[in-house]
Amino acid sequence: PNDVRVDALITPSDLTASLSVNGFPCKPATNVTSNDFFFDGLSQEANTSNIFGSTVTAGSVLTFPGLNTLGISINRVDFAPGGLNPPHVHPRSTESGVVIEGKLLVGFVSTGNVFYSKIITAGEMFVIPKGLVHFQLNVGEGKALAFTAFNSQLPGVEVLPITLFASTPSIPNDVLTKAFQVGDDVINSIKSKFGS
Ligand code: GLV
Ligand code: MN
Repeated sequence: PNDVRVDALITPSDLTASLSVNGFPCKPATNVTSNDFFFDGLSQEANTSNIFGSTVTAGSVLTFPGLNTLGISINRVDFAPGGLNPPHVHPRSTESGVVIEGKLLVGFVSTGNVFYSKIITAGEMFVIPKGLVHFQLNVGEGKALAFTAFNSQLPGVEVLPITLFASTPSIPNDVLTKAFQVGDDVINSIKSKFGS
């Protein structure tokens, strides 16, 4: 699919090309219509029945092409009660967010290895500096909803549990047992939760 790309490592195929494009090629102006500048893809509550109890719906250039070259995008994040948007990073973007409904524990870890966090509710904002590991956990009684905004049309994401334990091909157990100081049984058990 056209969303397969190597995050933060996009190698030019021809350094002598005379055409350079920030993003994707643009439509000829005569073909542009009002519809190109509107997107209703964040209007519906997403199904959150998955192992994490949260779902991110992306309004990036891939779903909303009108963002092309403009350097911004928005996600919708739905949380079931107790749902977690698991620790992840965006290689190309800082993130800001606002809680619309519910109560979220929002946290990130700095490059100095300091954990910053706060529980926030409707109307409150947060910011995650570019590239840092962060999460949101629904700590309220009911569902929660947040919208997040990025200074990239395609922020990219690596979800750490998936990246480390469910990559293709998998990271060898020798790496993971040493990195986490546990045995093969623990690594195999975690890998099995993600079907790998
Ligand atoms: C939340 O962290 C998001 O990436 O949308
Ligand atoms: Mn994020």
